[in-house]
Amino acid sequence: MALDYLQEQDIAKSYRLLNIGATTLIGASLNGDIDYMAAAWAGVCDYDKGYAVIDKTHYTRPLIEKSGKFVLCYPSAALAEQVMKLGSISKNDDADKLDHCNIELIEIPGFSMPVIKGCVAYLEYEVIPEPHFSSTYDIFLGKCLKVVTDSRVYSNNHWHFDQADDSLRTLHYVAGGHFFTIGKELFLKEYGD
Ligand SMILES: Cc1cc2nc3c(=O)[nH]c(=O)nc-3n(C[C@H](O)[C@H](O)[C@H](O)COP(=O)(O)O)c2cc1C
Repeated sequence: MALDYLQEQDIAKSYRLLNIGATTLIGASLNGDIDYMAAAWAGVCDYDKGYAVIDKTHYTRPLIEKSGKFVLCYPSAALAEQVMKLGSISKNDDADKLDHCNIELIEIPGFSMPVIKGCVAYLEYEVIPEPHFSSTYDIFLGKCLKVVTDSRVYSNNHWHFDQADDSLRTLHYVAGGHFFTIGKELFLKEYGD
């Protein structure tokens, strides 16, 4: 399927994507070593700046620290299972994690690393070094470098979920496999505790 539905957005308006507080997939890459992990604790902290909370044990973290970059992908509801897999399997334990998570990586011009197909927004960040924040609170701050969205649900600096298929709604994580889509609930009971 052609990727012509992907549309570049104005960085100055990128905060509007993050204002909805959706669950993210955080990616980082170093010398061809790519990892993605699920993150509920990521979002906006200024018009052109984002943050992510990334535990010290995660494989993704040193990739971010060494490359100085990270990508936030906003998965659609159709990717809920993949979000749980990316958030349950660590590349520390499984070198082929991404192969086992049933995802497809695509290249979008202007991004420094491949991104996950089927997400509704892609944002790349350059790390703003704040060693105290990172070492004490596991918080990474980033300045937004590039924004691309799925124009079926985000265009003209606004989300348009109601005019699109429900499968394109963003995911909002609670815990234990329990999500809401924006406006609708999705409960993956097999992950419940
Ligand atoms: C929905 C969901 C949200 C998560 N949110 C976070 C988060 O905000 N921060 C974090 O450090 N870990 C979070 N995790 C856990 C990591 O995604 C998980 O430990 C992952 O396996 C780390 O992968 P890695 O070691 O390959 O980097 C979340 C897991 C799930 C399922």
